Formats: sequence, C-alpha cells, structure tokens
Amino acid sequence: MSKSAELTALIRDRAGAEALAYGLILGSGLGHLAEQVDGVAIDYADLPGFPHAGVSGHNPKLVVGQLGGTRVAVFGGRSHYYESGRADAMRLPLEVLAELGAEAVLATNAAGSLRADMPTGSLMLLSDHINFSGLNPLIGEPTDRRFVPMGDAHDPAIRSALREAARAEDVDLHEGVYAWYSGPSFETPAEIRAIRTLGADAVGMSTVPEVILARFLGLKAAAISTITNMAAGLSDEAISHEHTKAMAPLGAAKLEKVLTRFLN
Ligand code: HPA
Repeated sequence: MSKSAELTALIRDRAGAEALAYGLILGSGLGHLAEQVDGVAIDYADLPGFPHAGVSGHNPKLVVGQLGGTRVAVFGGRSHYYESGRADAMRLPLEVLAELGAEAVLATNAAGSLRADMPTGSLMLLSDHINFSGLNPLIGEPTDRRFVPMGDAHDPAIRSALREAARAEDVDLHEGVYAWYSGPSFETPAEIRAIRTLGADAVGMSTVPEVILARFLGLKAAAISTITNMAAGLSDEAISHEHTKAMAPLGAAKLEKVLTRFLN
C-alpha cells in the first residue's frame, strides 16, 4: 500500500469513511477555526510523513468533521519550503486529502500587503499568484502529469462563492495577486518594489506550492490571505514573525465568518 493509502485508511478508521467536500489549510495564527469543527482531531505526530515539526503559531493537527454543515478536513498546520528546502513538503497531506474524496482545497495564510488600500487586518482573496521563488513542488515528478496547466488555478466558481459569502457576512474581501517568496527571511524594500512592479498585491511564504500540488492532484483550489503587516519599506510597522502572529487574529475572525458561510 502507498504511504497516502495507509494514511487515508488510518484517518477513515478514526474519523469515519464518509467522503469529504473540502480541505482547509490554516496559516500562521489562524488555527482557531480547527476548534470549530465538530469531529475528530488527529495529531500530525500520529500521521507519519505529516509535517509535525512545524512553525510556532501553527497547530499540527488534522481535524475531520462538520463545519458550517459541510464535511471538511482542517489542516491546523502546514509545512513551508523554508523548513526543509523541499517545495513538495505538503504533497503527502494533499494526496491524502484527494484520496479522502475532497473536491477542493482552501488555503489561508498570513501575508504582507503591497497596497495602501489593504492595511493590516484586511482579507485578500487570491485572484492569481506569482511564483517569485522559481521553485516548484513538481520538480522531479517523473510523469507527464507534471505539466499542470495553471490558467484557472484559483478556481473561478469557488472565488465567486467566497465573494458572495463575504458580502453576506458584510466583510470587505479584497482581491489580488499573491507573490510567493521563499523565506524565511523577510523581503527587502527593494524586493518589495520589484514584485510590486511585477503586479503583486501581497507577499508571503506559503500557499503557492500547495495550489500547484492541488491542481496536479485534480483538486480545485482557492486561497485567502490575512494581511498582518505592510510589506517591507511601505510603513514604519514592525515586520517579524511575532508581529505576524499578533496581527493574524485581526483578520482571523472575519476569515472564519467568510469560510463558515461559504461552507453553508
Ligand atoms: N512577507 C512574507 N511573508 C509574510 C509577511 C511579509 O511581509 N507577512 C506575513 N507573512
């Protein structure tokens, strides 16, 4: 049995075999949503190959159950490229999600804003992304399936439903392009000016490899950023991981409302 098939069997055994609709990946400081799920929590430590070392501000558990009337799997933590040098660090969890029957993955993250009209505490739905890192989780994949089209990688129907959910919750949901920067150091002001020229609206260290992997695995994808700071050089605000974790709750409450309404 493949590693993902073994894990899928283990999760079905613990949390029930009913197919899932969505997988949710929670970013830094956004772990609270996992607690709203009515279901079974499994520590990543019990799921061999899941990224349980993790980053502070993440909660390394998989929770499978009902949220907003929909059966979901919530990943309380993610693995980033900068932890291991592996852009495919989330491949196994996403393979398992696909095998559990999910149709789509919704990723959340903390990000820096490049737009004055999108201050700390704002939410931004990703209309698209720029893989500014040049890395790719499919490097080394031997099959022709590696040539994944990315034209509608951020699913238009899901984005439209998320916009609708935000409207219904009276939440201001910006929309823009997210640039993936490898991290773990933050960007320089010159790098931020460069990606602004290239069309980025927000910058962060995650999500893009997950969207690529999701499309590779036949899952639809969409993502929302919580803006935790203005990007380097754009304000006097501090930029640090501590600041990211401290500011994430500003957007998190709105994000939870939007996602819960969407799942309804
Ligand atoms: N840059 C990269 N990643 C981030 C930032 C940032 O400014 N804020 C939160 N995550």
